[in-house]
Amino acid sequence: MNQPKPTILVTGGAGYIGSHAVKALQQAGYGVIVLDNLVYGHRDIAEKVLEAELIVGDISDRPFLDDLFSRYPIAAVMHFAAYAYVGESVSDPAKYYRNNVMGTLTLLEAMVAANVKRIVFSSTCATYGVPQFMPLTEDHPQNPINPYGSTKLMVEKILADFDRAYGLKSVCFRYFNAAGADPEGKLGEDHQPETHLIPLVLLTALGRRDAISIFGTDYPTPDGTCIRDYIHVVDLADAHILGLEYLLEGEESNIFNLGNGNGFSVREVIETAKTVTGKSIKVLECDRRPGDPPVLVGSSEKAQKILGWQPQYSDIKDIIDHAWNWHQTRHQ
Ligand SMILES: NC(=O)c1ccc[n+]([C@@H]2O[C@H](COP(=O)([O-])OP(=O)(O)OC[C@H]3O[C@@H](n4cnc5c(N)ncnc54)[C@H](O)[C@@H]3O)[C@@H](O)[C@H]2O)c1
Repeated sequence: MNQPKPTILVTGGAGYIGSHAVKALQQAGYGVIVLDNLVYGHRDIAEKVLEAELIVGDISDRPFLDDLFSRYPIAAVMHFAAYAYVGESVSDPAKYYRNNVMGTLTLLEAMVAANVKRIVFSSTCATYGVPQFMPLTEDHPQNPINPYGSTKLMVEKILADFDRAYGLKSVCFRYFNAAGADPEGKLGEDHQPETHLIPLVLLTALGRRDAISIFGTDYPTPDGTCIRDYIHVVDLADAHILGLEYLLEGEESNIFNLGNGNGFSVREVIETAKTVTGKSIKVLECDRRPGDPPVLVGSSEKAQKILGWQPQYSDIKDIIDHAWNWHQTRHQ
């Protein structure tokens, strides 16, 4: 008979990427506890759609964490909880260092105290800063250009130190732009405020926004607009299962990019959205924003080679199609 699989604590599991990881964990047979303070997460998604056990609380609350780790047989943590608005991190860095760095430090100390020694962490390509070569590989220098990226880089460093000192093993995933939605249409992206291109384009197609702004049309790219790497959220979730299993098998800490490998320009995204939705989408051409590199594309060869990760949905049409299904249901 198969052994029951262990229980995984998913911080931020009521959020966008975390909720897709919860579904993937459930499908793979793991026990799941969702920890979310619901600042941005959705109770209905965690409790009604996923039917997961949701514990509302904060990763900064040490007594609460100690109690949680004493009550549940948690084998590992998937740590999605963080603030992730780059612009806000520039105007209010204290909020980001407090939540993303101090909150994570509290979580890690509680894990060590409870002898939970495995964590999968959501890092970001924003830790690289201005690209020096393309595609970005894991050994690209890390010089973040905003506090959000700095908070994630700091946690990567804390994790390396916690491994050396306490034997806490981690997989850090540096995601590129998470996009798309659960192909069954049950989960998807619902950030408020929304800042990501694909949902903004689709909200425009739905008539919930007047127009989509293109920031810069004179970049040295084939159509003059910025090129980014969009990775389907289901492919991200699959990688998390592989990263978790890698740690549960006793492997050493490691760091992996998770990206599509192909870049798509802002205009390509808008044109694909027009085809998928069959709607006209009003476009405003605006000046460049400071700090936006023309091209940001990652290499995920390392994750493919070491974890055996095989992304299923690299086509931008699939990504937008799934996101469109979700947005139509969520905003009907
Ligand atoms: N969305 C992307 O494209 C992207 C790219 C790179 C990295 N990331 C990282 O992936 C993770 C998930 O991103 P997302 O887009 O799903 O964001 P999200 O805001 O949808 O999810 C984050 C969740 O964490 C919860 N949370 C925040 N602070 C908390 C705290 N102190 N205690 C408990 N819960 C807390 C929020 O309520 C939310 O449900 C984040 O760490 C983010 O930095 C996201």
